[in-house]
Amino acid sequence: MKLSIPGRAGTAAMVTAVTLLTTGAITGAAPASPLAVAAPDLLVANVKAHLAQLQAIATANGGNRAHGRTGYKASLDYAKAKLDAAGFTTTVQQFTSGGRTGYNLIADWPGGDTNQVVMAGSHLDSVTAGAGINDNGSGSAAVLEAALTVSRTQYQPTKHLRFAWWGAEELGMVGSRYYVNSLTTANRAKISGYLNFDMIGSPNPGYFVYDDDPTIEKTFQNYFTGIGIATEIETEGDGRSDHAPFKNAGIPVGGLFSGADYIKTAAQAAKWGGTSGRAFDACYHSSCDTTSNINDTALDRNGDALAYAVWELSS
Ligand code: TRP
Ligand code: ZN
Repeated sequence: MKLSIPGRAGTAAMVTAVTLLTTGAITGAAPASPLAVAAPDLLVANVKAHLAQLQAIATANGGNRAHGRTGYKASLDYAKAKLDAAGFTTTVQQFTSGGRTGYNLIADWPGGDTNQVVMAGSHLDSVTAGAGINDNGSGSAAVLEAALTVSRTQYQPTKHLRFAWWGAEELGMVGSRYYVNSLTTANRAKISGYLNFDMIGSPNPGYFVYDDDPTIEKTFQNYFTGIGIATEIETEGDGRSDHAPFKNAGIPVGGLFSGADYIKTAAQAAKWGGTSGRAFDACYHSSCDTTSNINDTALDRNGDALAYAVWELSS
């Protein structure tokens, strides 16, 4: 090995390298970060395949996947079967709202420190008006694909991973609140963070990051900075999704959002493309929230950011 004479800038690195070699800590080429497992690319084709299944479920069940309707339970059964086959420990938590039975689906990935639980979740119910493919098939499908990718790669994180799909969000975050309220004080304290994904494939997308917890926010931010996409802080109805019950219980929360019924400004269209003067999702809570109501690029970027955050925060 021929060593060039280091200048001022090279000295510290050189000393480190020599120290490591002499102590035998590193043999062969040293990766940038030997212990961290890089987050995988979340395959958007797989996320879209889940969305096609959710659309088919809605179509076969009166056009929706709403709380208390057959399309909701069929959506849950679809996700549960995939998770069970992938080696997750699944739990279906039952509750009642508006005289109808609702369900949360919880999937634990065996292993990791159960005193430090990293959770990622999304609401699986739609409104009764339509199939709810952006709201919130998008978050549900991406969280499902992240979980299946954990299994496919046999990821063994330091922390314990738990994924969740909430019922009856559209009735006022009923399922997620039920889950948080049913945790013992001790189990609540074990949740290091909850990441929420509600509407991440809006057809005229913005890139909004929740600003509730600085570490989680920074993690998402780092991902988007790396792919050269500007983000804004999520302000379209703070507390309007399933992270709210977790935040109210003192659990650090974060998440992503690509916009609902607010109107994209000219400045936002300049940095993100799309159409100014139009809603981020003109089909929000409508019958046109179908598989054609998805921007694939937004779904892909947000899915990758989701995977990045899950891997980073649990490693
Ligand atoms: N499901 C949410 C709702 O119907 C969608 C939503 C609106 C949202 N504003 C939000 C989700 C802000 C996250 C953050 O209200
Ligand atoms: Zn909604």
